[in-house]
Amino acid sequence: MAEQMKSWRIVAVRRLSEAQLEALSEVAEVDYFEDVDESNRADFMAALSKAHGLIGGKLELNEAMLDEAPSLQVVSTISVGYDHLPLNALNRRGILLCNTPDVLTETTADTAFALIMATQRRLVELANLVREGGWRAHIGTEHFGVDVHGKTLGIIGAGRIGAAIARRGALGFSMPILYTAASSKPALEQQLGAQRRELNDLLAEADIVCISVPYNNDTHHLIDADALARMKPTAALINIARGKVVDEPALIEALSSGGIRAAGLDVFVEEPLPSGSPLAAMDNVVTTPHIGSATHETREAMAQLAVNNLLGALTGSGPLSPVNE
Ligand code: DGY
Repeated sequence: MAEQMKSWRIVAVRRLSEAQLEALSEVAEVDYFEDVDESNRADFMAALSKAHGLIGGKLELNEAMLDEAPSLQVVSTISVGYDHLPLNALNRRGILLCNTPDVLTETTADTAFALIMATQRRLVELANLVREGGWRAHIGTEHFGVDVHGKTLGIIGAGRIGAAIARRGALGFSMPILYTAASSKPALEQQLGAQRRELNDLLAEADIVCISVPYNNDTHHLIDADALARMKPTAALINIARGKVVDEPALIEALSSGGIRAAGLDVFVEEPLPSGSPLAAMDNVVTTPHIGSATHETREAMAQLAVNNLLGALTGSGPLSPVNE
């Protein structure tokens, strides 16, 4: 059995600790790439062509690459989102995809709340004022922020992360919670007094709109110019989901014309955000570099779950969080 197991080959990309790589090495030959770029893409493809398992964060994979990987059985992504992976092509080839839900839920909800606090209280703008020596007198109304507590929080997509954001808002900040979801969420309604709304109604009523949906054909540009026009001019938009859920040029227009007051954005259409993007320079926008789950503890837990998924799938004990089983 051990010999049989050692005959597997695994390609690992990014974000794995030595202990995790060692655990993989106990059952397989491991080709590890700290990163894949033009300088080592040929080596990566040579390794992938023999691999039974592929594990990593921000994996780049397409149909042509899968054609070159006839032995591949499992792709274990170190992320909860898998919109960057070709699910249909994996399904057609019978390749198992596993992701890392749950372990990042609370951290990602923390990130959403950090952006809510920062946009409402203008933390980055005012920290920069201090840093740049601009704090010369008592600050006046031009630097005041907007309350968080008691404001209506609208959550688009009340899945695991959306529910964790709702808990923070309702229990920590006495915020009335509105949410959209395909079906109602009795637990949220009973425990937090949350109320389900149609998207247009949520946009019109919420003081803070937080996007927490996966990216797919249905959510592409869910927040477009029309949706932004439905929001209150005093409202803020928070996005910790995926950049393409929002029509970015329409958002830039709404933020510059006073259509909405502010935005807190962790995700963008193009990542890294191009340095010339107006979003990086606007005072009423707080941008972070896709750090939703980026804490030491959570990234470690995500990598460990991805390792367990891959080993479980290859050794037959079963993956813990398969996407397409
Ligand atoms: C996820 O896990 O999907 C996060 O967005 C990090 O990529």
